[in-house]
Amino acid sequence: MNKCFPSNEIILVVALLLFCKPVTAQKDNQQKLSSADKAKIESLLGQMTLEEKLGQMSLFAAEWDVTGPILKNNYKKMITEGKVGAMLNAYTVDYVHELQRLAVEESRLKIPLLIGYDVIHGHRTIFPIPLGQSCSWDLKLIEDADRVAAIEATAEGINWTFAPMVDIARDPRWGRVMEGSGEDTWLGCKIAEARVKGFQGTDLKANNTLLACAKHFAAYGAPQAGRDYNTVDMSQLSLYEWYLPPFKACLVAGVGSFMTSFNEIAGVPSTCNKWLLTDLLKKEWGFKGFTVTDWTSINELVNHGIAEDNKDAARLSLNAGVDMDMVGSTFLDFGAELLNEKKVNLTRIDEAVRSVLEAKALLGLFDDPYRYCNKTRQENEIMTTDQLALAKKLVSESCVLLKNPNQILPIPEKIKTIAIIGPLGDSKKDMLGSWSAAGQWEKCVTLLEGIKNRTGNKMEIVYEKGCNTNDDDKSGFDAAMKVAMNADYIILALGENNWMSGEAASRSKIDLPGVQNELAEAIVKTGKPVAVLLFNGRPLAITKLTSLPIAILETWFGGTQAGNGIADVLFGDVNPAGKLTMTFPRTEDQIPVFYNGKNTGRPYNPADPNAKYVSRYLDCSNDPLFPFGYGLSYTTFAYSNLVTTVEGSKINISVQIANTGNRDGEEVVQLYIRDKVGTITRPLKELKGFQKVLIKKGETKTIAFNLTTDDLAFYHPDLKKYWEPGEFVVFTGTNSVETISKSITVK
Ligand code: BGC
Repeated sequence: MNKCFPSNEIILVVALLLFCKPVTAQKDNQQKLSSADKAKIESLLGQMTLEEKLGQMSLFAAEWDVTGPILKNNYKKMITEGKVGAMLNAYTVDYVHELQRLAVEESRLKIPLLIGYDVIHGHRTIFPIPLGQSCSWDLKLIEDADRVAAIEATAEGINWTFAPMVDIARDPRWGRVMEGSGEDTWLGCKIAEARVKGFQGTDLKANNTLLACAKHFAAYGAPQAGRDYNTVDMSQLSLYEWYLPPFKACLVAGVGSFMTSFNEIAGVPSTCNKWLLTDLLKKEWGFKGFTVTDWTSINELVNHGIAEDNKDAARLSLNAGVDMDMVGSTFLDFGAELLNEKKVNLTRIDEAVRSVLEAKALLGLFDDPYRYCNKTRQENEIMTTDQLALAKKLVSESCVLLKNPNQILPIPEKIKTIAIIGPLGDSKKDMLGSWSAAGQWEKCVTLLEGIKNRTGNKMEIVYEKGCNTNDDDKSGFDAAMKVAMNADYIILALGENNWMSGEAASRSKIDLPGVQNELAEAIVKTGKPVAVLLFNGRPLAITKLTSLPIAILETWFGGTQAGNGIADVLFGDVNPAGKLTMTFPRTEDQIPVFYNGKNTGRPYNPADPNAKYVSRYLDCSNDPLFPFGYGLSYTTFAYSNLVTTVEGSKINISVQIANTGNRDGEEVVQLYIRDKVGTITRPLKELKGFQKVLIKKGETKTIAFNLTTDDLAFYHPDLKKYWEPGEFVVFTGTNSVETISKSITVK
């Protein structure tokens, strides 16, 4: 190379330094301790024995709702001995009061307990599963739902929730996709922030707010082959770009705790990953709260093959930055030996204990350990009329209309007899969905009940189960056919049962299980109008079902008010506006299939579908069954007049949307960009904004989006985030595929 001239690399670096602007720092909303609280904590630390310190770093489980082995069942005695910092799976005022009493009246230092629980989508009033909620694209409603969850949980003694779960997931075989907000990082960040706000409010000391926990840190949502707990292996760039941001969003929103994940990242399990927990989370991001492991995940380091035994595992985790052991008891059992052997140091232990005590102080537990044990609140603030109404609203907002030929839906008022057929039509237990906390299935409104509530005696409603969700018994088909023949309109309630999604519930085949497709095929032969309602915890590969001439409404698992909320949509009281936050594949073989993939060097061109040397399958289309952002309405919308202007760092976008149908309706107007040329390749589309707007029939609205160049930033190989000038395509549309677009140049 001619030494007089800079290399291409140097030119590039200089160009980047000149033109690429860093993203401005974000505000930190972590709630602050008073000086009295700080003094109290230091005084306690000064008085604590080593065992008491290790006790504060230990979380044990009561007997209810277990998701793993219980290693200690003498927790009550241990509380009095100062060996327990926190309990999980214990609630109701009396029970928690008793545990707190043991801690603050019978232990030496009288330190109150954190009382944790998986309040994931409601506590007693159960809201739709989080994946369903995310399809509402209604951040305020999601925040309000978690506010209700916090009110109810704190009314029953709980002061810490293991939520929000903010794992980005692109593989619907993984059962825990039901617990998150889908595949998109940008939307995932917004929802993460809304949830933390909903749980923690602005004052953690209020008796109706609780400590949130961002989980599972990190990348738990990307297990190989979609199998729960499996290995995660990805580039650092992917980790930074797609999987970490929702955690950062929780931190910026002030989340009080982080939970480590079960998986490894690049060979190091999160639970002993010093880079992740200390260098990144605590030092680089400046997280001031505490870290807790997942259930026995320290002990599991032995199975991972990174620790010799539980003692070695405790050493690794403590030194990596774990502050509290969930259920495994390793800190308590081995902390003293490890300290004697100088394998861990007291500064690290003190730091961990301090962070736990600070959380207790932030919650006001030192001022009043019984703050969350209020019987009047327990009697009056649970499942109130308003809370149930909110739940019902969120059910209907979460529904996604996938298909509606000949306007089968909404159900015409003139219909006289409706046959509800299918295993999910009257199943209270299934309505809750997984992770339903203290939800009581007996209080759930099923589809049958919801429809009866809505129709009163105006229509005749009959029900036949037809088949079970997940076996090959067709003995109920005849009875189902009989009621179908006698009805004017058929609703098929199909899907997964409650236990087919959630933790340890991965599926390799994600079509409708059992004989449900056959039931649908048989029923369609009656020639009657058929609307299929889906109940499920993940995107399904329902290509067969979709080929039938039926309407399909995705309802997820709606929780306590499922049937009532769905009935509102079925009869058109609510015009559905939900949009998918996770792609539905045609077949499992396409997985992972998600909207923000890359172009590749040999992209598939739909205009030349048989081209040979391009990135495509020989036996299946590249396109998903239903893309990210997809969802129909009972009306139709037309997008036009996309206008873009760039002024300095501001990018102003406006688009006109006309309601061209016969009903008022809400539309989630979506904004995507594509960075045409980058120093690293960029996705074909990236969500950068949305607005959910009501547009009356015949009305046209102009919707404006104001981006700045910060919104164009992405992570680079040096893991710095900045934007690069050049050409961008701006897209707006009703989903991630049907868009109108315009090119802009940003300098
Ligand atoms: C799950 C966590 C949950 C914990 C406590 C674990 O099995 O992975 O998400 O918070 O149990 O119930």
